[in-house]
Amino acid sequence: MTSAKPFNVEPIDATFGAVITGLKLADLGEPAFAALYETWLEYALLVFPAQNLSNEDQITLARRFGDLELELAELSNVKKDGGLRTDDDDDMVKILKGNMGWHCDSTYMPVQAKGAVFTAHVVPAHGGETAWADTRAAYQELDAATRERIANMSAYHSLYHSQKKFGETKEKDSEYFGYGFFGQEPPLRPLVKIHPETGRPSLAVGRHAYGIPGIAEDESEKLLRDLVDFTCQSPRVYQHNWTAGDAVLWDNRCLMHRACTWDMNEPRVMFHSRIAGDPESEFAAHA
Ligand SMILES: [Fe+2]
Repeated sequence: MTSAKPFNVEPIDATFGAVITGLKLADLGEPAFAALYETWLEYALLVFPAQNLSNEDQITLARRFGDLELELAELSNVKKDGGLRTDDDDDMVKILKGNMGWHCDSTYMPVQAKGAVFTAHVVPAHGGETAWADTRAAYQELDAATRERIANMSAYHSLYHSQKKFGETKEKDSEYFGYGFFGQEPPLRPLVKIHPETGRPSLAVGRHAYGIPGIAEDESEKLLRDLVDFTCQSPRVYQHNWTAGDAVLWDNRCLMHRACTWDMNEPRVMFHSRIAGDPESEFAAHA
């Protein structure tokens, strides 16, 4: 427990992450916010139990961390009429299932996301957790030969590439809003990303990455899979079991994340605000 800050910081038993108590996110003065920002850079994932943020509070909070790429996206299996989306052919179910693969947000866009504020509104009795993995600790623990091998490698990132595994196609109109799916030329991103604010290197991999130029397709698939598998091992992972009212804030520049499965006959309603990356450091040119 750190006492010099205007809130309590309880580190999570992993290479990253802390539970923050003793503050109200909806009513945070400037000095407390500055301390929170520093804490966020240090721990990369902050968990705030029992904040019960309104949608408006959430957007206001997320804006303090930067411009928003997505103000508020509802990730939910509840339809407007109250019925549940349980069918694998449902466009939103395809997105929800896609989110169950390890990834960083918006790496398929020209500018990848900086981070996110994510809140739980309705949670299932079992499952539906969110997990994060520390890509900076993974880079740090890589053996020297692998570090050398990947030093100058890049990979393409595409949402179309990752979602076609779930039957999403460009041929039909999706009920899903189509963000990042159509008309995107895949950006090419180095496998090692330097964090613009901490200077720490991390692995830039995950489900949107494919096709490392200069090596065979199967070799590229295997390398990318091996790097994700290596990253997502204890003590570099943390899985949060949600209680309605929880909020989290994560740094998308050094963590991957994924949703865990749940019985889609149970409702799960989450809200995601995506903080835009800095074009100086998060931009990747289309090849
Ligand atoms: Fe995501």
